[in-house]
Amino acid sequence: MKITKVAVIGGGLMGRQIGLNTAIYPYEVKLFDLNPDVRAAVLKWEDEYLAGRIAKGRMTEEQVAGIRSRFLVVESMEEAVRDADLVIEAVVEKKDVKHAVFRELSPLVREDAILATNSSYMVSSTFKDDVTNPARLVNVHYFNPALVMKLVEVCRGEHTSDETVETVFEFARSTGKTPVRIEKEIDGFLANRILTAIHNEARFLVEEGYATYQDIDTACENGLGHPMGPFRLSDLTGIDLAFDIMNRRYQESGQKPRGYDLYGKMVSEGRLGRKTGKGFYDYQ
Ligand code: NAI
Repeated sequence: MKITKVAVIGGGLMGRQIGLNTAIYPYEVKLFDLNPDVRAAVLKWEDEYLAGRIAKGRMTEEQVAGIRSRFLVVESMEEAVRDADLVIEAVVEKKDVKHAVFRELSPLVREDAILATNSSYMVSSTFKDDVTNPARLVNVHYFNPALVMKLVEVCRGEHTSDETVETVFEFARSTGKTPVRIEKEIDGFLANRILTAIHNEARFLVEEGYATYQDIDTACENGLGHPMGPFRLSDLTGIDLAFDIMNRRYQESGQKPRGYDLYGKMVSEGRLGRKTGKGFYDYQ
């Protein structure tokens, strides 16, 4: 199947970058976000980003004019999806909202158009009863910032056809990405699961007094070649975000995650990482 027209639903942090990256390569993209303020913000962000590319000599005026003509922010879900070959859902990570989006778009879109979700943790079978022809439903998981990060994880469910997997794999490749396949559904996919395992082990080592967090970061950075150790990375992505995820895992499993008390204490003290100038490290 050949993809030429792509719809992106959700214009937040991920959706706008996925959309613009896709228009660069050069697909026709229509992006829809429910919130008019976000739609306006996407256009402003697009202007600034493309002006920056020209200023840095990375793109010509002509290239930018082409990208602009292919990247449209539209006013309704129907307008975005009606002639799409591929729809990429990138709305908030809330199950009920995603269920509603798939139910709404299914009757509006062609029966053979591929439906992809960019969800960080939810596998596509979660939504298989919301759409007709679930053989075209698949996870296509980008990384933040999606204009820059190369990895795209393509995760198939039992309902997903081979053709769907092959088509989105080739699509990702054709937009400058390095896709990988996940042959069976698993929450969190590959990279985030591996990252979680590293973080859990690092928190265990600190909690049990085997080493300081500074030395664990030093070990990961100097021995394993990681650009940032797990605690420095937590400061970057936010201690509050890590604690939210721990809380969700705690609720789901009933088991207190490693580092729960430490991260909870840091959140209550406002040590949220770089954004508050203090986390594991001091940034003032
Ligand atoms: P975000 O909160 O920045 O953007 C979500 C957008 O969805 C908002 O602009 C909101 O107005 C819009 N929206 C909500 N309901 C809608 C509806 N019914 N129709 C159309 N638009 C609607 O979220 P973000 O970070 O862009 O995440 C989007 C998805 O991407 C989530 O599933 C998330 O798990 C996933 N993801 C996020 C990454 C990240 O680092 N933030 C990385 C990889 C995946």
